[in-house]
Amino acid sequence: MGDLAGNMRKVESLLGSAKVNGVDVLVLPELANSGYVFNSRDEAIGLSEEVPAGPFSKLLQTFSKQDRLVVSGICEREGTNLYNSAAALGNGKLLATYHKVHLFNREGEWFLPGDKEPPVFEYGGFKFGLMICFDWAFPEMARVLTLKGAQVILHPANLVLPYCQNAMITRSVENRVFTATANRIGRERSMTFSGVSQVTSPRGEVLVRVGAMDEGLFWVDVNPSDADDKMITEYNHVLNDRRPMIYKRLTRVS
Ligand code: ACM
Repeated sequence: MGDLAGNMRKVESLLGSAKVNGVDVLVLPELANSGYVFNSRDEAIGLSEEVPAGPFSKLLQTFSKQDRLVVSGICEREGTNLYNSAAALGNGKLLATYHKVHLFNREGEWFLPGDKEPPVFEYGGFKFGLMICFDWAFPEMARVLTLKGAQVILHPANLVLPYCQNAMITRSVENRVFTATANRIGRERSMTFSGVSQVTSPRGEVLVRVGAMDEGLFWVDVNPSDADDKMITEYNHVLNDRRPMIYKRLTRVS
């Protein structure tokens, strides 16, 4: 909570530990630099940083130089605007940033919502997409990422409701993609976070699911190319079988 130096030390010790050797892609939770529960916009501003100039981004950048991709939630300041962001750094470069589109609970009091499509970027010959926490409740986000070619959706989270982990199985099946949700544990001020970080496969398998209070580094080997098989049966392709003309109302604004 609001402990920039403490959060930095914690992430630094994880990134510096022997456990991360051999990890190619690492996902950290939402707002990992700042904590989640703010009392005011001013407080959130005081805990924000510029991406990638800020110290937390620089730490991630240094880590990523050793042939790794790291994605983290960051409380991001851009001019006078504040965003609940995710940044992807690979091989020392900023590959993508994303401003959370669906703000949860009181987030709208401090953050501006993102107004762009979630990004897909290439790393190591594979395609990764970004979304943040409450975006899980809007299946359009995972679909857009899939239509843009994402094979793996990386999903920093500070979840409080109990539905997301099961919903992400569906996001995986309906798009035939991998998802990796890195969720926070424990309590901050009035909120308790639900843990249970997980990785799901295009066939809806739960490849990793940790406990509600498990903290640490959890990993699984996957081949992102498995997400290229979009056939849900011998006869049905999850993208080509869509009937967009029947769902026209989905794009109506009200
Ligand atoms: C959330 O979007 N942090 C629940």
